[in-house]
Amino acid sequence: MDPTQKFLLFLLVGVAATLSLATNSPVPQWPASCTPREREALLAFKRGITGDPAGRLTSWKRGSHDCCQWRGVRCSNLTGHVLELHLRNNFPRYDEATALVGHISTSLISLEHLEHLDLSNNNLVGPAGRFPRFVSSLRNLIYINFSGMPLTGMVPPQLGNITKLQYLDLSHGIGMYSTDIQWLTNLPALRYLGLSNVNLSRVSDWPRVVNMNSYLIVLDLSGCSLTSASQSFSQLNLTRLEKLDLSYNNFNQPLASCWFWNLTSLTYLDLIMNILPGQFPDSLGDMKALQVFRFSSNGHSIIMPNLLQNLCNLEILDLGGLSSCNITELLDSLMHCLTKRIRKLYLWDNNITGTLPTGVGKFTSLDTLDLSHNQLTGSVPYEISMLTSLAKIDLSLNNLTGEITEEHLAGLKSLKSLNLYYNPYLKIVLGDEWLPPFRLEVARFGSCQLGPMFPSWLQWMVNIKELDIWSTGITDQLPHWFWTTFSKATDLVISSNNISGSLPANMETMSLERLYLGSNQITGVIPILPPNLTWLEIQNNMLSGSVASKTFGSAPQLVFMDLSSNNIKGHIPGSICELQHLQYLNLANNHLEGEFPQCIGMTELQHFILNNNSLSGKVPSFLKGCKQLKYLDLSQNKFHGRLPSWIGNFSEVQILILNNNSFSGHIPTSITNLAKLARLNLANNNISGVLP
Ligand SMILES: *[C@@H]1O[C@H](CO)[C@@H](O)[C@H](O)[C@H]1NC(C)=O
Ligand SMILES: *[C@@H]1O[C@H](CO)[C@@H](O)[C@H](O)[C@H]1NC(C)=O
Ligand SMILES: *[C@@H]1O[C@H](CO)[C@@H](O)[C@H](O)[C@H]1NC(C)=O
Ligand SMILES: *[C@@H]1O[C@H](CO)[C@@H](O)[C@H](O)[C@H]1NC(C)=O
Ligand SMILES: *[C@@H]1O[C@H](CO)[C@@H](O)[C@H](O)[C@H]1NC(C)=O
Ligand SMILES: *[C@@H]1O[C@H](CO)[C@@H](O)[C@H](O)[C@H]1NC(C)=O
Ligand SMILES: *[C@@H]1O[C@H](CO)[C@@H](O)[C@H](O)[C@H]1NC(C)=O
Ligand SMILES: *[C@@H]1O[C@H](CO)[C@@H](O)[C@H](O)[C@H]1NC(C)=O
Ligand SMILES: *[C@@H]1O[C@H](CO)[C@@H](O)[C@H](O)[C@H]1NC(C)=O
Ligand SMILES: *[C@@H]1O[C@H](CO)[C@@H](O)[C@H](O)[C@H]1NC(C)=O
Ligand SMILES: *[C@@H]1O[C@H](CO)[C@@H](O)[C@H](O)[C@H]1NC(C)=O
Ligand SMILES: *[C@@H]1O[C@H](CO)[C@@H](O)[C@H](O)[C@H]1NC(C)=O
Repeated sequence: MDPTQKFLLFLLVGVAATLSLATNSPVPQWPASCTPREREALLAFKRGITGDPAGRLTSWKRGSHDCCQWRGVRCSNLTGHVLELHLRNNFPRYDEATALVGHISTSLISLEHLEHLDLSNNNLVGPAGRFPRFVSSLRNLIYINFSGMPLTGMVPPQLGNITKLQYLDLSHGIGMYSTDIQWLTNLPALRYLGLSNVNLSRVSDWPRVVNMNSYLIVLDLSGCSLTSASQSFSQLNLTRLEKLDLSYNNFNQPLASCWFWNLTSLTYLDLIMNILPGQFPDSLGDMKALQVFRFSSNGHSIIMPNLLQNLCNLEILDLGGLSSCNITELLDSLMHCLTKRIRKLYLWDNNITGTLPTGVGKFTSLDTLDLSHNQLTGSVPYEISMLTSLAKIDLSLNNLTGEITEEHLAGLKSLKSLNLYYNPYLKIVLGDEWLPPFRLEVARFGSCQLGPMFPSWLQWMVNIKELDIWSTGITDQLPHWFWTTFSKATDLVISSNNISGSLPANMETMSLERLYLGSNQITGVIPILPPNLTWLEIQNNMLSGSVASKTFGSAPQLVFMDLSSNNIKGHIPGSICELQHLQYLNLANNHLEGEFPQCIGMTELQHFILNNNSLSGKVPSFLKGCKQLKYLDLSQNKFHGRLPSWIGNFSEVQILILNNNSFSGHIPTSITNLAKLARLNLANNNISGVLP
């Protein structure tokens, strides 16, 4: 045994002895327990908490003596002083079910040795919502995380007194600002600065200030309302910076004038949602450490593809909104070293012309390929079938031609989302017997040529959330498996085909939120609807029969309902009044009769269209409460009575069509109040008197 080992043994024996004594005597313990003063401070802190729905502070109680054992509290093993408070809420943005609510007690000042304070995602800002200024007197703090707290007001410059600070995260408040960040230069050890969502619109010299913090590794200034990133330095200090997030600011300046292009240590650069026109500078080509580069701007910027060819660590490349991009050249330059590496490639809205090159099949690590909103022509190469990791491909809004066949899709085992929406000349030719290798969650084929038969391979897509086969030339029966296969879907867009069949008798177990069936040949009656439905379009079909009394009450979330141009008969059931969120109602061109039910509280209506039925009674008086009404059409019915004077109260009304009814009496003078009125038709009624 060497002397150190002897000493350790001695220490261990000593500790064991002390521990055995400690059970009923107050002699100092090891590990040390917390000091009474600090325990009191923590209890006072707890008294400032008015809500703790997840019970994260239940172990914090007077009876439990050693506050070092309390949840979230870490002490020094030697001195027993509280060093760390870990009270992060692991659910985003002060989630109500888990966040602590209340204010931060000034008692924390007693925790003089505190180094780590994480209160992120809690709502501990008190009624004033201000940053607790006293925190800046905790001079030993190394880590402050107040991100995701609903803070407002000025970021206190006194933070500059916490000179040991290495991590400062104040992101995602709800209205913090700063007009001068000079105090940052007093924090020489700073490695992490997160001020996302702090309004820095009046800080113009921010690049100069951050350049003084030469130890910075992460700088997150997204959504800070920054107006300029132009600056030139004699010397760039930020040689350790790895992550720079400047997305969602108000830059509107030439790309090349930005200060950060020489930061070759960057692995992550996010510039999305700014306006940065012009050429990318050559120095981009030297940022060889980049793994994530996000740049989707609407500045119509220009990139020379060869700039990317040495960025051999890229995993995510997000380039949208360029003024042009030669896809062949771009893929060629990425091919230099990225075929096995790049995972996500976003090239949407880049004015890309020409065909999708066969080389795309070499990027076998791709899980996301987004080429939407370009001008791609020609056919899709079979080589895409080699992208076995691909989970999401978006080729929507192009002008692709040719066919998509089984050969294109055979290898795409991981595919979850296939978007070919709006390629009107693209034919999708997949045999009846085809067994797809994937289970899609999103399938969008709107406007492509899919018909005339209903594609039977869709029956395997039992995980579908969104299906769009709008205007795909299908002239067929709805297959018998349709409603069960898609019972978990939230969006079904089937409009503008020649599809016949009927709705299932009861849709109450379906997850549908939006159903578009317009312009088909759907027959039968309207069934019990899915409970979460907000949007229903079945106009221009052949629905018949009357509406059962409970039908509308089954979908109380409906915001939009268009049943026009069918053969629906009979009375409108009173359950329509349960549609309290309805903004658009169109029942035109049916055979409805009787009075519109007297609803209460249906005040969100903007479009109320009942023309060409046999409805009777007076103008429904509940409309008086619909302050947002824009479009009212009761024409070609049997409505009667005087036009109510409240008809002049609709400040938003643009269209008022009441012709071909039996309205009588004078036109109310209030009608002159309708400032936005663009169309008025009162013809073929029994209205008398003068035009006001
Ligand atoms: C105290 O000791 C425990 C157990 O040995 C160890 O896990 C912990 O990290 C130590 N805490 C500090 C603050 O050093
Ligand atoms: C601060 O907390 C948030 C949410 O809890 C976390 O995402 C973020 O990484 C933390 N910041 C630092 C510097 O650790
Ligand atoms: C630091 O604290 C002193 C007093 O505690 C205060 O007067 C001063 O304004 C603070 N300085 C900064 C930069 O916050
Ligand atoms: C930021 O502050 C400026 C004034 O200081 C204000 O005009 C602007 O609207 C604010 N930006 C945001 C996003 O609140
Ligand atoms: C670089 O950082 C040091 C120390 O933070 C500072 O003194 C110096 O002025 C900085 N250089 C520039 C060019 O800002
Ligand atoms: C980047 O480096 C180049 C050459 O080293 C230099 O000419 C340029 O001014 C630097 N840009 C910035 C913003 O510092
Ligand atoms: C798209 O490219 C064409 C030439 O290829 C160019 O004339 C046009 O301005 C570009 N459009 C945009 C929005 O940049
Ligand atoms: C793209 O670049 C290649 C090679 O430089 C060229 O042959 C092709 O014509 C270009 N395509 C377009 C659409 O400009
Ligand atoms: C799309 O392609 C078709 C067939 O090649 C062509 O007739 C049509 O003009 C193209 N449309 C547009 C908008 O380029
Ligand atoms: C439906 O079929 C008829 C004739 O069968 C055809 O005229 C019409 O264009 C088709 N409609 C759609 C939307 O395909
Ligand atoms: C309706 O929405 C709620 C809340 O999102 C969800 O819990 C419920 O499962 C949905 N109902 C159906 C039938 O999908
Ligand atoms: C009125 O509705 C019927 C069907 O209910 C339809 O046949 C007729 O064309 C419609 N009239 C007008 C003018 O739209």
